[in-house]
Formats: sequence, structure tokens, C-alpha cells
Amino acid sequence: MAKILLVDDEPSILSVLSTLLKAEGYIVTAALGGEKARDILASNEEFDLMISDIRMNPINGMDLLKIVHSTRPNMAVIMLTAYGSVETAIESLKLGAFDYITKPFKVDELLVTVQRALEYNRAMTENADLKAQLGTRYQLENIIAESPAMKQVCEMVKRVAPTDTTVLIYGESGTGKELVAKAIHAYSRRKDKNFVAVNCAALPEPLLESEMFGHVKGAFTGATANKEGLFQTANGGTIFLDEIGAMTLPIQGKLLRVLQEKEIRPVGGNENIGVDVRVLAATNTPLDQLIAEGKFRQDLYFRLSVIPIEIKPLRERPEDILPLAYHILRKETPTNQTPPALDPEVSAILESYSWPGNVRELENAIKHAMTFAKENKITKDVLPSKIAATPVKQTLSSHSDSVSAAKARSLKAFIRAKEKEYLQQVLAKTGGDKEKAAKALKISLATLYRKMPEAQE
Ligand SMILES: Nc1ncnc2c1ncn2[C@@H]1O[C@H](COP(=O)(O)OP(=O)(O)OP(=O)(O)O)[C@@H](O)[C@H]1O
Ligand SMILES: [Mg+2]
Repeated sequence: MAKILLVDDEPSILSVLSTLLKAEGYIVTAALGGEKARDILASNEEFDLMISDIRMNPINGMDLLKIVHSTRPNMAVIMLTAYGSVETAIESLKLGAFDYITKPFKVDELLVTVQRALEYNRAMTENADLKAQLGTRYQLENIIAESPAMKQVCEMVKRVAPTDTTVLIYGESGTGKELVAKAIHAYSRRKDKNFVAVNCAALPEPLLESEMFGHVKGAFTGATANKEGLFQTANGGTIFLDEIGAMTLPIQGKLLRVLQEKEIRPVGGNENIGVDVRVLAATNTPLDQLIAEGKFRQDLYFRLSVIPIEIKPLRERPEDILPLAYHILRKETPTNQTPPALDPEVSAILESYSWPGNVRELENAIKHAMTFAKENKITKDVLPSKIAATPVKQTLSSHSDSVSAAKARSLKAFIRAKEKEYLQQVLAKTGGDKEKAAKALKISLATLYRKMPEAQE
């Protein structure tokens, strides 16, 4: 049975909660106050979950969360917070808490959250075991991630994929939100079932509702037969609600109910249908802004953003630009041909440009350049003119800057990046033929794979 560490500095709450959880069969250790809890956490007694009040003195819930986070990676944490201090609670999610509950809480809500936290925890542990069994290599194909920010995104994808947790993906247009959502699906146990994407901004309200939940015959003019909704199509799999910020308030209310009850009701129907669907959502408008404007329900936001993943704009992760460019060149070249090479001047321009349309814009620029490239070489004059006109900044690929860039990024990281860039160029030249590339580089195939794990596919 799961073991829970319960922390509050109010004896009455501690005793009520303790009774409640014991009645559900959990093994509960109650700690009156943060200091007591800290001592227990310092022992080697094992727990699956900590439920802790946030506001306590002198050691508060956030302090305890940090201790758990750094010393007990397999332990889930739920925070308790007084109504009105939600901000600290949200802060706690960023620090790794599974969820929080506002006091006064509903018993049902508490128990469901406890169950979900334990389930999540179990999935995480199983995932860790599985990874250990598979060995160290657990690569996310197709996602280029050279920058620390993007590597962290991949790390999150690996961690959350095996769970059934809702994930909210935030990023500007073209940053790779759908790609990340697909990766989460591909690495989950739902991978053999459908991944269904719904663009919430593309349809007006009544249509969106019937798209998502289906409708029964005669529900409205034109509903000549029963129609299955996308939630049913995604049954057993994953639904990706893109541009969720565009969803109107009435549909938000319906979605919230679906998330809570795992049942949908088709438009015009009077019976609910059970569905087992994992929900991933994406937005390019920060939802807190929409909440402040009264356009988005805060309770739905909390449900959706159990795990938030932010994808930074491309201009904030310049290390990804050239690896992405090579990736796109390879992807767009027929397998039996050699991808075009990038002129050094072009590399510098690509790294200097601000990419307001992010990876999608880079993709379009490379495709455009490939159409006009001569002698299998991408030169400045075949880039879209707006991009070609970019003044070249001191970038990683411009030699003059090598030294200062190395200083800024630590020499080791710099050399590794340079090495990788070179490997990618050679690999592009050999048309992705790894044996040929290894030979040209005078290294073994194994060394090539070690230096470039993503080449192993
Ligand atoms: N890190 C990456 N590695 C490889 N390809 C990427 C990466 N990021 C984005 N892409 C590619 O860029 C294109 C845009 O990505 P995607 O459609 O996922 O972005 P998005 O954030 O959903 O965009 P939008 O907001 O316009 O819907 C896709 O072709 C995707 O494969
Ligand atoms: Mg998209």
C-alpha cells in the first residue's frame, strides 16, 4: 500500500486528513510542522507521496518540496494552499510538485489528486526501470535539440510520455509544438492507438463542439446521421488540442467536465459515453493573459497545465539553427542524393537572422534555397531576399568570434558544438551514409555514434 507523509502545522487539519487517508487504506505518517517533516525526510524511511501545507514556519512547504526534489526523485508531492495564495502554489508546480489543492478542499478532489499523483509516480518509476533495462540510449528521433533549452524539452518529453498526465505546450508559432506533442504520444503506451489533432481556432463554436464530442442524428439542421466525435476517434490514444486559447468559454466548460469525468456527451444526445483519452494542449498565447481578460477558465487551465512545457523561440536558442538547417537539408534530399552544402556566409546569416516564424520559417527558407541552388551549394543569393539581407552578427560560425564564443560557452561545449557541426556537414556530404562519413573522418563507426547518438537509427 502507498505510504504518505502528511505535513501541516495545524493539528486539526492533520488529524482530519490523516483519518481520511487511512480510511482509504493508505499508510500515513503525520508530521506536525515543517521541522518535524524535515527530520523524517532526513531518515531513510521510504514514502511514495508527501502532502504538505505551504505556509508554515520556520520551514515551509516550498522548503520541504526542495528537499524532496533533490533527495527523493521518486516521491510525488501535493501542496495544500489557502484560497487566495495560488501564486505560490503555481510556483511549487515549477519546482516539481505534482499538483496543489486549495483549502477548504473537497474530499473527492483530494482523493482523486492523491490517486493521480501515485499513478504518475508509479509510471515514472516504471519508466526509469525500463530506461535502465534498455540501456542508456533513449533518443528522441526527429527532434533536433542542441541548445540546453531544447534538451530540457526532450528530457520533459521522456519523463511525461509514459504517464497519462495532461501536458500544456507553450511556444510561438512554428516552434515545434505539434512535433513535441507527437513525440509524447510516440513514447507513450498509447503509441499504437490514434493521435488526433484538433485545431480549436479553425472551427466556429458549434462545429468545434460536434467535431470534438460528435452529435446525434437530428441534433441540428443538417445532422442527418449520428457522427462520432474526435474524442472517440482518439479513444485509447491521444488528443492534441491545438490553439486551445481560441476555445470559447462554453466549450471550455464542457472540456473541463470531460477531463474530470472521462465521459463525453454528443451534441443533442442524452447519454454519456466513456472515453479513455490522454489530452495534450498547445497555445501560442499565454493563457494567464487570457484568464486575466476573462476569456479562459482558470480551473481548466489548472487541469491542463499539470505539466507545462515551454518551447523557446528559435532566436533564443541559436545553437539549434545550423543543426536544424542540416536536418532539413537531409530531410528534403532524396535518399540516393547528396544534400547541398551550406556556404559559410550562409551559415552566418542563418545564425544572425531573428526567425520570427521560428523553425517553420527556417524550413521554408531552406526549401526555397534548395529550389534555386546551383552545383549543390546553398549560397547567399538563393536565400529568400529578406533573410539574405540580414546583417551578419558575430556568430558561432564566424571565425573572428571563435575565441569569445568559446569563453562564453566554456571551451568544451564550444568544441563539442563545432565538432558536431563538422560531423553533420560530413554526414550531409555522404548523403547520410555513416560508414562513408566515418571513413572520411578517419574514426570508427562506433566513435561516430558516440559523438552523434542521433545518427544511430
Ligand atoms: N526541434 C526540431 N527538430 C526538428 N524539426 C523541428 C523542430 N522544431 C520544429 N520542427 C519542424 O518545424 C515545423 C513546425 O513545427 P510544428 O508544426 O510542430 O510547430 P507548431 O509550434 O505547432 O507551429 P504552429 O504554431 O504554426 O502550429 C515542422 O515541420 C516540424 O517538424
Ligand atoms: Mg501547430
